[in-house]
Amino acid sequence: MTNRPSSFIAPHKGLRLLFADVLVLAGRTDPGDATVLSDLLAKVRVLFLLLELHADDENAVILARLDERLPDAGDHDRGDHERLEALQARLHKVIEAIERSPTAVHLDALYTGLQELFAQHLLHMREEETVTQLRLWQMFSDAELSGMRATFMARLGPERSLLWLTWILPALRSEEARPLLNGVLAGPDDAFRERALSAVRKAVGPVRWAAMINTGDPVTGSTNGSSFSFNA
Ligand SMILES: [Fe+2]
Repeated sequence: MTNRPSSFIAPHKGLRLLFADVLVLAGRTDPGDATVLSDLLAKVRVLFLLLELHADDENAVILARLDERLPDAGDHDRGDHERLEALQARLHKVIEAIERSPTAVHLDALYTGLQELFAQHLLHMREEETVTQLRLWQMFSDAELSGMRATFMARLGPERSLLWLTWILPALRSEEARPLLNGVLAGPDDAFRERALSAVRKAVGPVRWAAMINTGDPVTGSTNGSSFSFNA
């Protein structure tokens, strides 16, 4: 056990929540229910976008920095990303088939494919949270790892950061969520901050929202070694 910051756990918790949500929805969607079908396909697109963004961030920031200090240490995870992207690409054809003809057969193919993709991602994320994380802790200081997380946010920009947060925050314990929430509260753009807070409040629900607001230090934008800047 360690209290050193994780490079992976927050986005991975968000991805696991979204994956589970999408998989359950895919399993119960009636082919003739156009409203639910539209919701399902929209959520699948969000899932695929976040998976692509996340793999790209890991390749460009975490694994690239790790390779600089430990040559070829990022090869395993990069190979995983390529394999998972190929698995995901196959599902695009299933989605196109559903859009053309929403049948139970096509929805079953989506459910089965999502299940396989979820299973493979679970194993991949577990590897990153254990083997890769240990290497990162060995090779980098907490300040350097925090800098990598800040680089992620800067690469994403405000709109995609907000999309991420609507899935990450509902998946975190209140004390884990608080530093990220502080980043939203500390944003300099009033209109964007209000929109972001409204989206986040809706995503987490009133009970969890109250727990997050009442957890931790006053608004600072940085707590417990985690920093987050939400600049619109
Ligand atoms: Fe990854």
